[in-house]
Amino acid sequence: MAITFLLDGSEVSAEDGKTLLEAARENGIEIPTICFHKATTANALCRICVVEVEGMRLLQPACIVKAGTGMKVQTRSERVVRTRRTILEMLTSTMDLSESPEIQKMMREYGADANRFPDSHRRVSEIKDDNPMYVRDYSKCLLCWRCVQVCAYDAQYTFAINFSGRGFETQIGTFYDRAIPETSCVLCGQCVAVCPTGALKPKREFLLEQGMTPQQIGVLNSGRKKRK
Ligand code: SF4
Ligand code: FES
Repeated sequence: MAITFLLDGSEVSAEDGKTLLEAARENGIEIPTICFHKATTANALCRICVVEVEGMRLLQPACIVKAGTGMKVQTRSERVVRTRRTILEMLTSTMDLSESPEIQKMMREYGADANRFPDSHRRVSEIKDDNPMYVRDYSKCLLCWRCVQVCAYDAQYTFAINFSGRGFETQIGTFYDRAIPETSCVLCGQCVAVCPTGALKPKREFLLEQGMTPQQIGVLNSGRKKRK
């Protein structure tokens, strides 16, 4: 069954049960997302997708709120744009987003000032290089939860990583901070594939950035295979 509602002043229709994000995209209106990924269950953590719905006091996350008949939705009102800009400014004050071109593009689009907030809560983390497939740099992690979700119920059912800590101390990691080879991780790479910020990076890409040549990486890998 189709429902109809007002989206940025135009009447649109969508299949019943679609979220505002899905309905907007199907009708050619782009709403920015960060924590949302089509392969994972929407969790509404980042709030960059917020929209204004007439009659609702708070802005609503479009990635989880269902479209409904008669709704009046604004996806780019002044309040929405200001809120998205502030979210981006807060994000960039707490983590290194230099390797996230999509978020950098959003920063430009929304006129976000990277220096608006002090960086006293900036996430600092050493690079964890403990397995042959990928490295982890949690100073770039924005806690979108995508990696945890694909490692768990959304794909792999491996449960090698999860959240720990609270507030500014919240971080993603393995149980008891164990090295990856000591966990249930099967090196499937799905977490790396969905990470939007470069916090999880293929080892090869990391080594190339460190200045190693493809030949040197090949020698390293063949030595590893022989040791197996
Ligand atoms: S490591 Fe990447 S995918 Fe995982 S929560 Fe952090 S930013 Fe998201
Ligand atoms: S994309 Fe909707 S809350 Fe993150």
